[in-house]
Amino acid sequence: MTQPFGPIEAPPRLDLLGPLGPEIIKLFTRPFLVIHRASGLYTARTCLLLLFDLGWEAHLRAGVTLDALCAELPEQARKPLAWMLPFLAVEGLLLRKGDVYTLNGEPDLDLAGIREAMDVEAPGHGVNFDLLDGVRSHIPPFFTEGKAGEGLLFDLALFPLWLAYFRNENLGYLPNNLLTLLALREGLPEGARVLELGGGGGSFAQLLARQGAEEGWLSRLAEYRFTDVAPTFLRRAQRDLKASAPGLPLSFQALDLNRPLGDQGIAAASLDAIVGINVLHVAQDLEATLRDLRSCLKPGGRLVLGECLKPTLDTPLYLEFFFSFIKSFTGVKLDPRWRPRHGFLTPEAWDEALHHAGFTRVEHIPPPRPLMDQHPSFTVGAMSVFS
Ligand SMILES: C[S@@+](CC[C@H](N)C(=O)[O-])C[C@H]1O[C@@H](n2cnc3c(N)ncnc32)[C@H](O)[C@@H]1O
Repeated sequence: MTQPFGPIEAPPRLDLLGPLGPEIIKLFTRPFLVIHRASGLYTARTCLLLLFDLGWEAHLRAGVTLDALCAELPEQARKPLAWMLPFLAVEGLLLRKGDVYTLNGEPDLDLAGIREAMDVEAPGHGVNFDLLDGVRSHIPPFFTEGKAGEGLLFDLALFPLWLAYFRNENLGYLPNNLLTLLALREGLPEGARVLELGGGGGSFAQLLARQGAEEGWLSRLAEYRFTDVAPTFLRRAQRDLKASAPGLPLSFQALDLNRPLGDQGIAAASLDAIVGINVLHVAQDLEATLRDLRSCLKPGGRLVLGECLKPTLDTPLYLEFFFSFIKSFTGVKLDPRWRPRHGFLTPEAWDEALHHAGFTRVEHIPPPRPLMDQHPSFTVGAMSVFS
């Protein structure tokens, strides 16, 4: 069968992945590389189909600017469209000339063929596409009625898909957790007190329990405090994690990283590590949150972050499609020096933000350059950040 994704990128050379390369290279299986490419392509086609669903095909064929497209739409439509149009141009589905985006000819928008080919190459990963289909079908009132993205994307119909997505069995998501796990493991002291921010579906805690036990270092943890701002996630974790993350010394609490941690019962200088996977980028005031987190770390303690990373600030990542509808992602306080954009950042922008907040040293796993220059589709990394 011919596969519809075009050439699949080769895995990076081992020497680009730093000292933990032999463990990291295992992520770059053929199914992972296929999922990554197929997800980008499926996202691009879904975006264009969404614009068709909204009745804008004729505008696109005539050539349209972002301003013209937004003219009669609710203000909130601007941010996702400001992401979508350049993304579609990068993916070759729209032609960009200056500020004008034009649809030419009849681009291939087949989705079923991508699913079929993926079923062969990476069986069991349909959830990545189910989620994209779900967003496409649920999001139109965001544009037409000004409804909030949060309510549309996290409703009862889509919630199970999010849970299925944020799992270690999803090879497209696993790198977020695995790289963060490697960062946490290195230098974890005996008797460590660790807090996880935005623990969500609990997939990181599960991987930590499994791999920590297999490798014999789980017993170094004296406390693992699982937190999330969302009561639904917290309740689910309280119910399930004792069984699905055995051996982890768990405690649970609601925690909002946009409120001072001291007011939420976290004592100053009390933690050896604070872990956050794909959560810190929603900090409304990143500088204030980072300073607050730093104050809760013991001397020598670390902030351990897993984040989607961009090769340049202007490179659209397919994963941003989901998040561009969510206010907590797009509505953050910006500063050209240490918070230049909302959402995902480059490794260098994280370095700026972290140093500015008083952290002394940032270790990236894997070292992001020249890796991301040579493999622009490598868009995830962990940071071990020393207080
Ligand atoms: C992208 S998910 C990460 C999921 C999780 N790490 C996992 O692997 O399942 C982001 C998580 O951050 C949480 N979150 C969002 N805003 C937050 C806030 N202000 N404070 C704490 N957690 C927050 C969400 O509820 C969600 O569980």
